[in-house]
Amino acid sequence: MTSVKEGDYNALREEIKKVLKQPGYDDGSAGPVFVRLAWHASGNFSLVEHNGGSNGAGMRFPPESVDPANAGLHHAISFLIPIQAANPWISHADLWTLAGTTAIQAMGGPQIPWEAGRSDYDSAEAAEEHRGVVGDRLPDGALGASHVREVFTRMGFSDREIVALSGAHALGRCHRDRSGFDGPWVVNPTRFSNQYFKLLLRPIWRPREWDGPFQYEATVAGTKLMMLPTDMALVEDPQFKPWVEKYAADQDLFFKDFSMAFGKLIELGVDRDDTGFAKLVKKSAEEGKP
Ligand code: HEM
Repeated sequence: MTSVKEGDYNALREEIKKVLKQPGYDDGSAGPVFVRLAWHASGNFSLVEHNGGSNGAGMRFPPESVDPANAGLHHAISFLIPIQAANPWISHADLWTLAGTTAIQAMGGPQIPWEAGRSDYDSAEAAEEHRGVVGDRLPDGALGASHVREVFTRMGFSDREIVALSGAHALGRCHRDRSGFDGPWVVNPTRFSNQYFKLLLRPIWRPREWDGPFQYEATVAGTKLMMLPTDMALVEDPQFKPWVEKYAADQDLFFKDFSMAFGKLIELGVDRDDTGFAKLVKKSAEEGKP
């Protein structure tokens, strides 16, 4: 891994692109799991309690590292470790979110607004942050529309943003040994597109008969695809469905809305002053801590 000049985030994006290709891992790309890492790092934020979110990179320590909701994300963290080791000036929390946005764009998706400024917790801070409050905040794929709305409203997202964010399931797959669910949502799961919405609207989905958790399946162009109950909730719910239809018909609109919503997601929990400078980093600089 190359060390790049401190603060040169464009050069760091190039370093991230170099590790996206992972022959022998899943569909040959670390991209989807980078996107899930950025999302899970951010998605335990609570607007009401004002904790959780992408600051801290708490997933390196218990309890987040052993939370079953985060199963498999150690792959993403390990792919990024050499980059962080060669460039210790970037926090893990910044690197994880930068990797998510870089991956989306490299897989054909939109550019996402991203700013540096997250700091890393140590293990005690991570435990403190998560003491009883931040656990269990990520969505459960086995549930329905009211659960999805509740989880994302807690983060501060509207119905429109919830549907836009869900379009990330055009990437990657479910793994039996991680979530228990199985398979990809679309035929080409390393290409960011509005395919997920187009497929959701097709009347092809049937309950899968198997010994795993309840999920839907369909065969498209010879490939077995899947949908989670929470994915199907987007077409079952009368407020979510119009957005699925809009994004299925208009990929540009989806890209625009996704970019804004994902940019907002990775800012959750990052406390910036009115000049946009992250307060936590500023505080540690004032206290003379690294
Ligand atoms: C994968 C659930 C929202 C991005 C998964 C998996 C589940 C899941 C069960 C499979 C994990 C595995 O077995 O490896 C959900 C639920 C959501 C949700 C219930 C909301 C109701 C999101 C959002 C994003 C996202 C908002 C990003 C914006 C991804 C990606 C993968 C994934 C990229 C593939 C990871 C890989 O291939 O390793 N999700 N998710 N998901 N999710 Fe979600």
